[in-house]
Amino acid sequence: MSLKDKIVVVIGGSSGMGLATAKAAMAEGAKVVITGRSEDRLRSASQDLRGTVRTVALDAADEAGTRALFEDLGHVDHVFFTAATLTFSPGFKAESAALRAAIDTRLWGAYYAAKYAAPKMPPEGSITFTTGTASQKPVPGLAIVAASCGAVEALARALAIELAPIRVNVVRPGLIDTPLHEKLLGGKERALKQIAAGAARLPLKRAGRSEDVAEAALFLMKNCFATGITLTLDGGHLLA
Ligand SMILES: NC(=O)c1ccc[n+]([C@@H]2O[C@H](COP(=O)([O-])OP(=O)(O)OC[C@H]3O[C@@H](n4cnc5c(N)ncnc54)[C@H](OP(=O)(O)O)[C@@H]3O)[C@@H](O)[C@H]2O)c1
Repeated sequence: MSLKDKIVVVIGGSSGMGLATAKAAMAEGAKVVITGRSEDRLRSASQDLRGTVRTVALDAADEAGTRALFEDLGHVDHVFFTAATLTFSPGFKAESAALRAAIDTRLWGAYYAAKYAAPKMPPEGSITFTTGTASQKPVPGLAIVAASCGAVEALARALAIELAPIRVNVVRPGLIDTPLHEKLLGGKERALKQIAAGAARLPLKRAGRSEDVAEAALFLMKNCFATGITLTLDGGHLLA
């Protein structure tokens, strides 16, 4: 299935995997809409994309905003959802309320996107969520993040049945070299160090690139027989 002239909405499209997917979809002739919270990041992504891209500032956990986005668009062919807040709490140290953002964004945000996008989609449309290998191989301190990823993988399988023939899938990345690491660790050097250390432990001996994920996201948009699946892209992390 070609993406030419298709409307592709990337929720969390101003950076990393979302931005790379927006770029790849545009290169195939899609009309792309990207969202994110920061207007500055959206502006800079729009310059990077160098095409007619529509940007919408929106928190993925905002149900009314998500409904307004899809009502305003009127028609959408494919949605790629990457937005999520990462919360960290080793040994139950954080207040429970502070951890809710992980669920409110990745799980509820994904649910809102599907709920309001699906009625605007043709039967050959698709929705792809993003999780992470934490759903299968948890890391200490990321219990709620791991739970949110597992929940989204289950949600995708359930929606693949409920929304069929619209297809619903998941991309499950491992270590991917994106601006996320710099944001989480508060500096480029620390991020580079952590990525290099993580990459050294992988069978493939390198971190993934945003483009590796974008390729998978486009595969799931275009392959008319793929539904209810979770595609792992982790350089062998789950095996090692
Ligand atoms: N990078 C990795 O190694 C890795 C590994 C496993 C899983 N993942 C998952 O993959 C996804 C994409 O990560 P990435 O590495 O591409 O991150 P990134 O470079 O930080 O990009 C995240 C994108 O999502 C947007 N976003 C974040 N929170 C949002 C919210 N509450 N509402 C709306 N937009 C929001 C960001 O823009 P604003 O900040 O301006 O809102 C940005 O456009 C995430 O779900 C992440 O947990 C990443």
